[in-house]
Formats: sequence, structure tokens, C-alpha cells
Amino acid sequence: VMVEKQGFKHFMLKEIYEQPGVVRACLEAYFDGEWAATDANKSPIHLGLAPELLADLQHIQIVACGTSWHAGLVGKYLLEQLAGVPTTVHYASEFRYAPAPITPNTLTIGVTQSGETADTLAALEMEKKRRSSFTQPELQSRLLGITNRPESSLGDLVPNIIDTHAGIEIGVAATKTFVAQVMAFYGLALDLTDRRQAKSPEQLEEILVGLRQLPAQMEVVLESQERYIEELAHDFAETQDFIFLGRGINFPIALEGALKLKEISYIHAEGYPAGEMKHGPIALLDAKVPVVAIAMPGAVYEKVLSNAQEARARDARLIGVTPMDEQEAADTFDTLIPVPHVDELLSPILTVIPLQLLAYHIAARRGLDVDQPRNLAKSVTVE
Ligand code: G6P
Repeated sequence: VMVEKQGFKHFMLKEIYEQPGVVRACLEAYFDGEWAATDANKSPIHLGLAPELLADLQHIQIVACGTSWHAGLVGKYLLEQLAGVPTTVHYASEFRYAPAPITPNTLTIGVTQSGETADTLAALEMEKKRRSSFTQPELQSRLLGITNRPESSLGDLVPNIIDTHAGIEIGVAATKTFVAQVMAFYGLALDLTDRRQAKSPEQLEEILVGLRQLPAQMEVVLESQERYIEELAHDFAETQDFIFLGRGINFPIALEGALKLKEISYIHAEGYPAGEMKHGPIALLDAKVPVVAIAMPGAVYEKVLSNAQEARARDARLIGVTPMDEQEAADTFDTLIPVPHVDELLSPILTVIPLQLLAYHIAARRGLDVDQPRNLAKSVTVE
């Protein structure tokens, strides 16, 4: 398939703009109708997974690399906080040489957009072998792949797949495939939450209603913030280090923001859980190190704002990704990148967009090869 840039300067920017459409496609593929409070047996979720795969789970382990690993971290938050299943997330390259002890009621999930990453495939292959010692066949096959390419090597390896519906991604730095992987985790987490009756149908329906509002909200972020972020990027022509802070479900988004910037602009960046800043990274801060903090109202909002104030006391320039019209955030940050008000649980799909745009515009302004950054490959098929 020939993919064109359709007027965009780079594939990455085009793919950032495709994200609302990708989320719409995921919503259509995974959800149909609503949670009927009257009929507990009727779920609107259609992931096409065998019910045995998700029955009596005691543990979920996720293996992945790079941006897919970040999607796994968002997944962990959802699987634990919604469905109540203890979940661990592993770098595939680490896991394959030091796997956690195996237990029967564990679901192993490999997340890989290409379905070809060598470390992820090797980790899953190892899991498959380890499970062959179980006597019941349904325990042997508790392996699930989340991928944008079901026809890949991953598809051949694991018996269960969630297709992430992102379409072909050309930019080496993953954008729309990340958002699509996170959508797959919303689907999986809601499915498990429902099966385990960890939340009421009304609560589940509220989350689903929120998910369905995301595409339009993503469009608002793109339409209202892209120009502004392009301007903002001018300020960082000489910047050598960036810190990204987030907590809770937005901690992985801070990691992802830092990774995007490293990958395409070659600026050193660290993503940190905001509460850990005082245990080291705060020593790096001065007027030359901008701090981007994700502060969305919810369980950790006040905490992130006070962590941001600690950075301010070290003269760091503070950039806040926060909801529109929040006075407290406006008072805390030097620069605001507002996003629509949204439930904290759904916010990563919105908060990641300004960070992608910031990385993109800083790199583009530096005249770098955004779609083909040095030393990186779209899929890493060697160890
Ligand atoms: C490469 C790419 C990254 C990607 C990682 C994992 O390093 O440059 O963008 O996140 O591989 O790729 P996967 O296809 O397994 O998601």
C-alpha cells in the first residue's frame, strides 16, 4: 500500500492528526451499544477473545519494548484500578533472561505494534514453552498479543490477538499506534471489570460514554493547540535537557513525552513520576531545564501541582498540560497547554497529544529528519 503525506510536512504529523480517527475505529471495533443495567449478562464489549482466556485470572504480566512498554504501563493502571487484577509490566529484553516465576492463572500479554520486535517475540516464545508443562490446555494458551499487525510473526506465535486498528504507521516514532494500544487496554480492562463485576454497569457505562467523547476532544486539542505549540517550540532552540513529570495514569505519558523528544529531537529528556523528583532529578533543575508537568484533576492533581511548585523554586520554566480554565494550574505554570476537561482515567489519550506535538515541532524546527531519526528503526527484528 502506498501511503502519502497528504499535505503534511512529515508522516509523523499526519499520523498525529489521524489519532481521533483511530480512536473512533477502535471504539467501533470494540464496543457496540451500552451497558444495560437491567441485563447483567449483556456486555457491549466485543474483543473476540475466548472466555477461558480471561476466567479466574490472578495475575497479568505484560511484556513489550519502547512505546509499547509505555502503553503496557497505562494498561497496568487500568487493569489494576478498574478490574482489580494485579499486573506487572516488563521490558521484554529483561524478562526473557530473568522471567518471573510462572503461575497457572497468569495471562501474559505481548504488546508490539509491528508484531516483529525480536525481544518481545522471544519473551513470548519462552512463556509458551514454560506453559507447556501445565496439564490443562486452557492454561497453556493464556497468551494474548496486542498488535497493529495481526498477520505478523506475533500473530503466528500467540493464540489470541487484539487488533489495534491504527493503520500503517510510517514515522519511526510511534504515535497513533500508541493511542490505539491504549484503546485496546481500555477494552480489555473494561471487559475484565465487567466479567469480574468489579464495577456496576452504571459505572462501566459512564466510562464508555467518556471514551466515546474522546475523538472530538482530541480534535479540540489538535485544532486549538498545534499552532501554539509550534510557536512554543521556538523557545527551545538551545535547550539540552527536559524533564517530564506525571503521576498515576499520566506517569507513563510523562515517559512517553520524554521518549518522543529523545527519539526525534535528540534532546536529553527524562520522564519521572512527579513525587520521585525530590529523590534525585531535582538536582538537575535550573533556569535552563524546562519541566513539563501533566496535571489533570483526579487522585493526584494537587500533588502534581505541588511537585511542580518545587521545580519552580529552582527557577525551572514550568509548562503544564492541564484542563482548560483551571485557576490553580494557571497560577502554578508559566506556560499552559490546555486540554478539555476529562475523567482522569481517560486523560492519557488527550495529554499525550501536546507532548507528541511538542517533540515534533522542536525536532522539525531543528531541521531534523523527523520520520527517520538517526540510529532508530521502525521495528527492531534483532536482539
Ligand atoms: C522500535 C521503535 C519504537 C517502538 C519499539 C517497539 O524501537 O523505534 O518506536 O516503540 O521498537 O516496537 P513494537 O513494534 O514492538 O511496538
